Amino acid sequence: MTDRVSAQSGRRRTAIPRRFLMCRPEFYDVRYSINPWMHPEKPVDDALALSQWETLRDLYRDLGHTVQEIDPIPGLPDMVFAANGATVLDGKVFAARFRHVERTAEGPAYLDWFRQHGYEETHWPEYINEGEGDYLSVGRRLLAGTGFRTDPRSHAEAQEFFGVPVTSLRLVNPSYYHLDTALSVLSEDEVMYYPAAFSEGSQAVLRELFPDAVLATHEDAAVFGLNALSDGRHVLLPEAATHLAKELAARGFEPIGVDLTELLKAGGSVKCCTLELRD
Ligand code: ARG
Repeated sequence: MTDRVSAQSGRRRTAIPRRFLMCRPEFYDVRYSINPWMHPEKPVDDALALSQWETLRDLYRDLGHTVQEIDPIPGLPDMVFAANGATVLDGKVFAARFRHVERTAEGPAYLDWFRQHGYEETHWPEYINEGEGDYLSVGRRLLAGTGFRTDPRSHAEAQEFFGVPVTSLRLVNPSYYHLDTALSVLSEDEVMYYPAAFSEGSQAVLRELFPDAVLATHEDAAVFGLNALSDGRHVLLPEAATHLAKELAARGFEPIGVDLTELLKAGGSVKCCTLELRD
């Protein structure tokens, strides 16, 4: 564990070792379009996608985190976005049930991995939900997105399963179709987010819960800057998000820019590639 004291807030920034599940983009491609970032006519550089992803995985390991890998499956080009594979809290696994037929096979594939790796408490959901794409844990609360992918009825289902408060947030801009494209958790009680991605009411809820949140600009959001992962001290985020990086540094975090431009062609980046295993 490493410490750093924030000049602005006086808070000590401590990196806590995490466990992540990732999926190598071996069969990654953009062949269909289920979000505004995906243009199947634009070619993907397979080798570059792979090396950008490996850089992220190795960076996690260099920072002291554990990365496990699930085997990629041919015919599931979006499986690289492991965040969508499930939501895991207290060692309990709430499986994902995808909105689009192109991705439905990923839900059972991820659930199998958990069953084979000793996770005993698993739940096959009644309602559509796209895992940590729309469920983000902050403190002992889950923030839950809806509007494009996850069914709002899933939020009550998750609350019942995990036994922690679930706060519903409505997304309104199709470019920020998952919660993790519009909001990122920085610590046990801090987040950063792009207000315009949320409905008026959800913006008010976020102001109420997080009055000191880092607010992202339109430019930060447009380069996917909110699709970031914080370990409490280091914040890995798309390298083009330079304004956000400055804001984070001013609060004592250590921003680390990552280049995942090939994965952005499918509408994903750092957080989308990373499923946190919270035991
Ligand atoms: N092409 C994928 C989709 O539209 C990207 C998923 C990104 N993942 C995420 N956690 N936001 O479903």
